[in-house]
Parts: sequence; C-alpha cells; structure tokens
Amino acid sequence: MLIEEFKYESDLPRLKIHNVFRYPAKFHPPVAAKLISRFSRPGDAILDPFCGSGTLLVEAVRAGRTAFGGDVDPLAVFVSQAKTRRYDPEQLEIVLKEVLKVGETLSRGSVEHDRLMFHDIDDEGYAAQLAGLWVPAIPHLFHWFRRYVTVDLARLLHTIDKIADGEPGASAFLRLSFAAVIRNASNADPVPVSGLEVTSHMRRRDAAGRTIDVWALFRAKAGKVLESIRELEAARVDSATAEVVARDARLPYDGNAVQAVITSPPYQSAVDYYRRHQLEMFWLGLTGSQAERLALLPSYVGRANTPQSHPDALAEWRSSSSANEWLEEIGRVSERRARDFRAYFSAMTMAFASMDSALVPGGVAVVVVGRSRWSGVTIPTEGLFKELVPSTLRLREHLAYKVSNRTMSYTRHNGADINEEHVLVFERE
Ligand SMILES: C[S@@+](CC[C@H](N)C(=O)[O-])C[C@H]1O[C@@H](n2cnc3c(N)ncnc32)[C@H](O)[C@@H]1O
Repeated sequence: MLIEEFKYESDLPRLKIHNVFRYPAKFHPPVAAKLISRFSRPGDAILDPFCGSGTLLVEAVRAGRTAFGGDVDPLAVFVSQAKTRRYDPEQLEIVLKEVLKVGETLSRGSVEHDRLMFHDIDDEGYAAQLAGLWVPAIPHLFHWFRRYVTVDLARLLHTIDKIADGEPGASAFLRLSFAAVIRNASNADPVPVSGLEVTSHMRRRDAAGRTIDVWALFRAKAGKVLESIRELEAARVDSATAEVVARDARLPYDGNAVQAVITSPPYQSAVDYYRRHQLEMFWLGLTGSQAERLALLPSYVGRANTPQSHPDALAEWRSSSSANEWLEEIGRVSERRARDFRAYFSAMTMAFASMDSALVPGGVAVVVVGRSRWSGVTIPTEGLFKELVPSTLRLREHLAYKVSNRTMSYTRHNGADINEEHVLVFERE
C-alpha cells in the first residue's frame, strides 16, 4: 500500500487549553483535529484508549463528537477530565479571586524570598510553619522540594480545597492550575520531558539564586487556565461530552461502542510517564503511598528496563515473522532491549484486540505511531503494527507526516530518535 502524505494544516485557531499542562509526546492539536474531521462524523463516539493529556478529547468535543478517554496514568486521567469537563467561567473567576486574596496574606515578600534563595528554613521552622497542614508522603521529599516551597504548596492546596469544597468545577480548575506549577516549583529540571531529575543545570541555577514564589506561579498559571477554559467553553459544541476513566488499554474493552478509535500509543522506551508524574500524583492525592504507586508500574506500556518477570515479556509470543526477526536482531545486541521490545509488542497486540472490540462494525481505528531508532537502526514500528492487528481489522490507509517541532526532545537522551509519524487507518469488518 502506498504511503500518502498526511496534510493536517487547518484554519481553526489553536486552543490555549492544549498548553495549560506540559505533557510528554502529546498529539499535535491540528493533527488530532484533522483525524477527527476526516475519520468521523458529527455525533459519532470516539475513543482514545491512550488519552494522555486529552488533546484528542478536547478536539472531539470542539467538533461535536462524544469523546471517551482512558489511560493507566492517574495524572493523565485527572488532566484530561479537568480539561474537558464543563465549567461556569464566571464562578471560576470568583473562586480564583478568593484564593488569591488568601494568597496576599500568606505569600512571602521579596526580602524573605531573597533570603530563602540561599538559606532555606530549618526543621524547626518547617514544623512551625506547616502547623497541621497536609503534606504528601513523597519519598525523599526534600530532594525534590525546598522546605519553604513545601510549606507554600501545602498552604496553597489547603486554601484551594477549603474554597472549592463541594464545588467540583471550581476544584478541578484550581487543582489543575496547582498541578501545572508543581514541577516548576520543585528542584527538578522542568525542561526534559522524558523523566524527572534534579539535573546539574538546576543545581547550578539554585546555587546562583532562584526565587521560587509558589503563589506567583499559581496566580500566573490559574489566569491562563481560566482564559483557556473560557475559550473552550465558547468553542465546544454544547451537546458534546467527554468521559475519561482509568483504564488499561491492554484489557478487554468494557465501555460504550464507538464509531472511531483515534489514538497515539506510547513510544517504545521513550518517555517514563510513571517516573515523570510522581510529584503531581502525590500532591493531588492520586496515590497515597509509594507502594500504591509502585503497583501501577507494570501497567505502563512502552517502559524501558522491563523486568524478566513482567507478564508482557513472558506472554506467549504469537507475533509476526518480521517482529521475530527484529527480536532476534535486537537480542544479539542487548537482551534487556529485546525484553522491552517483546513486552511492547505483546502489549500492543492486546491493545489492538481491545480497540477492535470497542468498534461498531465498519468503525475505524486510527493509530498514530512513530518509528524508533536504536543505535543507528530504524525499527519500522508501523510495519510491525500492521502485522499485529486482529484479522477483523483491515488496513484501509497508511499516511505519514514529518514531526517538525522539538517537543520530541527526549529522543536525544535515550537514542530513540523519532522524526516522522505514521497514521494507520484500519476498518473493522
Ligand atoms: C503518547 S502518550 C498519549 C498522549 C496524548 N495523545 C496527548 O495528546 O496527551 C501515551 C499515553 O499512554 C499511556 N499508557 C501507557 N500504558 C498504558 C496502558 N496500558 N493503558 C492505557 N494507557 C497507557 C501513558 O500514560 C500516556 O499517557
């Protein structure tokens, strides 16, 4: 089948809501919008089983589709829900003013910030300032946050929860804004998208003096989130709804039947979502303990360093002959990578079966996938995917486009270089 160029440019203005939360390997919004208009009709139901930060779901409600999203990552579910739910912007403006008013009395002045830049509060000061506030059980908390920043985040969260008590819309808006400043308030480097590290670059910045003003960060972010919510409220089709749930895309589908699945599965060994999202997950109470969080780890598809005991690495390998050839070739270079490869393609085989069962007869599954490059070798993931799908899914189109922006900068860190994306369109018999 000929690979056609996918032209996705559109005249629709880019919605600001796509930028409120930094999420790795997001859909390029015009791509999501074009796939929706090309492969579904108004009123159709669309499923994104790897919904991440909900780019597809946002564009779906804008285009008058019913959107269903699922992800194993609790932060992804929270962000997608918060971005796609309905709001009353006037109410949000009122609650935001209330929170910021409290902030005026609790935020620290510039003189204090100048001092704290080089001299954090001590244990005694920390205990006194925290005075009964809740702080999440993040392992090595003070590796990730300064003490005074921890206090300020705890005070801000306490204020948010008090003011938004019993108001789900206000709570979602304020907590989304809160979540979006956590990484910038931490000691971790906000730039790399692949994981979460306190880099030497950040250590140098901190040693040179860095002001971390949690309330100011929140004020700026919440203002932008509110503006983006107003914009989406005006742009979306009134009757269109989105429902997002925590769901493992490898498991049999138990939701509503849909006319289209449109999704971009995780890339193999590229982004460590589990590690990257730990701070936000703890602060939002999406995990209560490290043990609870750890229990989620085996469900993430596309991880590097898959343990030998992982069920996807042990699953009966019924893969295509070319997948077997790749497995052998990779195995000659590295057993560990061969295990990652095997686990990834086993998981994706299950995910395709699940997508198939979500579709009505004649429905389409549209899968966006990048090629992986390892040590100079390009793995034609899209070609392998074609061989993994159940026989009920027939390939209808194969499109491709260049990835032009640098949002994929994680590729430089792990040698997986992805500069082109493919769109496989399957039709259910
Ligand atoms: C490439 S990202 C999707 C990004 C999304 N299109 C967006 O615009 O934000 C892949 C997502 O798959 C999720 N994921 C990984 N394993 C999963 C699984 N077993 N079931 C469902 N989602 C999973 C990750 O948490 C991540 O959010």
